[in-house]
Amino acid sequence: MPHLLHVACIMDGNGRWARRRGLPRTDGHTAGEEALANIVRIASQRDIGWLTVYGFSTENWVRPRTEVRHILSMHKRLFGRIDELNENNVRVRWIGRQFNESGARTPAFVQRSIEKAIDDTRNNTGMTLTVAFDYGSRAELTRSARLSSDAKNLRSDVEISDITQHLYDPEMPPVDVLIRTSGESRISNFLLWQIAGAKVFFTERTWPDISATELDAAIALVEPTDGQ
Ligand code: IPE
Ligand code: IPE
Ligand code: MG
Repeated sequence: MPHLLHVACIMDGNGRWARRRGLPRTDGHTAGEEALANIVRIASQRDIGWLTVYGFSTENWVRPRTEVRHILSMHKRLFGRIDELNENNVRVRWIGRQFNESGARTPAFVQRSIEKAIDDTRNNTGMTLTVAFDYGSRAELTRSARLSSDAKNLRSDVEISDITQHLYDPEMPPVDVLIRTSGESRISNFLLWQIAGAKVFFTERTWPDISATELDAAIALVEPTDGQ
């Protein structure tokens, strides 16, 4: 059996996609959600075990309220695609500031759709789709460091394995390849711990235009022996 890859995506460029077409930014987010559903289907047919996507960052809350509201409704739509996810044998997970954590901002209606999607897909045995929502790597690592030192009582005892075990999803494997769309060659605040050693694939294409071509080009960066 081949090594099943972990592919992570920074889904950037919805706004630019819309602007180039003379459309409101919200239309870009609608198209971005559709592109994600399409990529999930394609990825589930590749040797990909984990697909992790950056849906909304801890920094994105400062955007205009109407845009934020639209992005939230797109997540509700995404997490509502239960039949499709089940057809593709995809298991849903979520990472982000835990609902009871101070500073967490995921509204209740999105929390409910996340919990329902996780529950309704938990028996699927194919690819794991993890959506990072209200997610920031710095918040994740800060929490992990705190929990690790609490668990050990002594800060100096904390080891690499402790930090890994206290991430939002300790079962998430290291990322093999990170994709960022829209011509930005930066990582922002995404999976900073998990991408150590990952290949990085930057493409000029905006997220709503992503296709199997970019996904396959990114996968091709991973050497056959990597991660085995
Ligand atoms: C990515 O597209 C979606 C989110 C960050 C939620 P953007 O909205 O950042 O699109 P650009 O970068 O303005 O083109
Ligand atoms: C990255 O996109 C975050 C998500 C895709 C959710 P941004 O557009 O927010 O990233 P920066 O701030 O330009 O790096
Ligand atoms: Mg952007």
